[in-house]
Amino acid sequence: VTKRTPLIAGNWKMNLDHLQAVALVQKLHWALKDAKHEDGSVEVAVFPPFTDLRSVQTLLDADKIAFTLGAQDLSTHDEGAYTGEISGAFLKKLAVSQVIIGHSERREYHAETDEVVAAKVQAALRHELVPVICVGETSEDLEKHGASAVPVAQLEKAIAGVPADAEIVVAYEPVWAIGSGQAATPQQAQEVCAKLREVLADRLGADTAARTRVLYGGSVKAANIASFMREPDVDGALVGGASIKVDEFASIIRFEK
Ligand code: G3P
Repeated sequence: VTKRTPLIAGNWKMNLDHLQAVALVQKLHWALKDAKHEDGSVEVAVFPPFTDLRSVQTLLDADKIAFTLGAQDLSTHDEGAYTGEISGAFLKKLAVSQVIIGHSERREYHAETDEVVAAKVQAALRHELVPVICVGETSEDLEKHGASAVPVAQLEKAIAGVPADAEIVVAYEPVWAIGSGQAATPQQAQEVCAKLREVLADRLGADTAARTRVLYGGSVKAANIASFMREPDVDGALVGGASIKVDEFASIIRFEK
C-alpha cells in the first residue's frame, strides 16, 4: 500500500492583508512547535491572497517554517496583455509550489468552466506548480444526480491531457458544505473521494491513483477533522474559515485519528 502524506491546506480566500498574513503565520508557527509537520508526517499548506505571497514567502524562508506556500488561482496564460491576471511563472518565482484551481467560488462568481479549469491545470503543470483541483456538487446537483456524478465529471475534464507522472492534488468540496457549518459526513466524503480515486486510476493509472492525495473540504474544523482522516480515501483537508483562526487551524493540523 502506498503511503500518502496527509495534507492540511488552508485556503484563506479574500481575507488578511500582508501584515495580518505575516502575523497569522508567525502565530501559527509558534502554536505548532513540536507538531507533526516538523517531522514531515503531515504537510501544512497555506494559500494566502496574491498580495500576501511575497511577505509570507520571506517569513517562511527567514524563520525556516516548513509550510508549503500556495496561491488561490492563476492565469491560463504565461504572460502578455491580460490585465489583472497572475501567471504561473510569477508564482513559481515567488517559491509558490501549489495552486488551487476550479474552486467553486471561481466557478460561480467568475464563470470558470471546466475548459478554463483544464487550461489552468495545464498552465500550473507548465510551471511545475502542483494543481489542487477542486470539484464538488451543489445541493441541486446532489438532489438530481447524487453526490458523485458532478465531481467525477469535473475531475475527468480537469485532468484530460495530464500526464500520468504529474503531481496533482484533488479536493472534493461539496458546494453545500462550504462555509455552511454543515460538513458532509465522513462516509459521504469517503464515498466520493473513493470514486475520484477511481477516476484517477482509470485515466492516469493505478500508481498515480495510489500516490495522489484526495482532500475533503467544506466546514472542516478541529471537532470533525479526525473523523474525516479516519477514512481510507481522505488524505487531508482543504480548510476555509477555520484556517485563519490560529488555535483552530493548529488543532486541525494536530488531528489524532
Ligand atoms: O477551499 C476551502 C473551502 O471552500 C471550505 O471552506 O469555510 O467551509 O472551510 P470552509
